[in-house]
Amino acid sequence: MKGNMHGKICIITGATSRIGRETARGLAKLGATVVVIGRNQPKSVATVEAIRQETGNPSIEYLLADLSVQGQIRALADDIIKRYPRIDVLVNNAGGTFLQRQLTSDGIEMTFALNHLAPFLLTHLLLDTLKVSTPSRIVNVSSGSHKQAKMNFDDLQGTQHYAGFQAYGQSKLANLLFTYELAHRLEGTRVTVNALHPGLVATNVAGANGPLVRFIWWLITRFGISAAEGARTPIYLSSAAEVAGVTGRYFYKERAISSSPASNDATAAARLWQMSAQLVGLSS
Ligand SMILES: NC(=O)c1ccc[n+]([C@@H]2O[C@H](COP(=O)([O-])OP(=O)(O)OC[C@H]3O[C@@H](n4cnc5c(N)ncnc54)[C@H](OP(=O)(O)O)[C@@H]3O)[C@@H](O)[C@H]2O)c1
Repeated sequence: MKGNMHGKICIITGATSRIGRETARGLAKLGATVVVIGRNQPKSVATVEAIRQETGNPSIEYLLADLSVQGQIRALADDIIKRYPRIDVLVNNAGGTFLQRQLTSDGIEMTFALNHLAPFLLTHLLLDTLKVSTPSRIVNVSSGSHKQAKMNFDDLQGTQHYAGFQAYGQSKLANLLFTYELAHRLEGTRVTVNALHPGLVATNVAGANGPLVRFIWWLITRFGISAAEGARTPIYLSSAAEVAGVTGRYFYKERAISSSPASNDATAAARLWQMSAQLVGLSS
């Protein structure tokens, strides 16, 4: 299998559905060994088979974890470290919108747990391996919806008031604060970390909700781009030579752009880091 990603190992969360699946497929086409992180075994097996067939790349594998559960993230990270000698690219893509407030089995609000704490914890657990695999890259799938959001530090998990799209925006803002703080902490290591907005993609990101919400989401995304187009920027950040040394930036349509003033608040980033570390049981 030839391609500029030949010999590289890429871990992609949420790779069994649209943007993540297309990212996995794109990196497989470039010759990478792709590790699909799924939560559903039959769907993961089917995804791996389809990508192998579509790309002719046999080096596609899968591992399972419910990323809303910290114990499963820890087991997944152990498994990855045991199986793979190196990690060239980690794409934190899995995410969702939850219009009704719900708790994970760890007792944490689902949007915050899945969209922010999961990439925060998984990245930390894989950081030593990423550091011995340099040059290596971390790619965080955020969203343009971070722009309307602010961090509600007094009630990060919406116990007093919960609104699904607000919680989603906050979690995507948290992805950016995490990206920028991590880039700062990784200065000089040759591990880069960038975030991106994939564009408005006609996908199932609101699929965990009722028929009315799914219908509204379908209306919103009816004129959206395809998942393959949405995967262009994550593929670019994972593989392009021209961004090899670029870190701590936010991309849209394969170009670095500005993110909101709230996402550039270094004090908020440090505060979020400390609170997140506490929630996942890591020292900050
Ligand atoms: N769609 C858009 O317009 C848009 C815009 C901006 C940003 N984004 C971001 O893009 C990313 C991908 O979203 P998408 O639009 O491709 O949505 P999607 O089609 O719903 O894909 C979400 C992926 O996350 C996985 N996932 C959900 N809950 C999980 C859990 N508890 N444990 C493990 N995996 C879980 C899903 O697994 P299954 O395959 O098993 O369901 C799926 O593979 C998300 O981070 C989203 O916030 C999307």
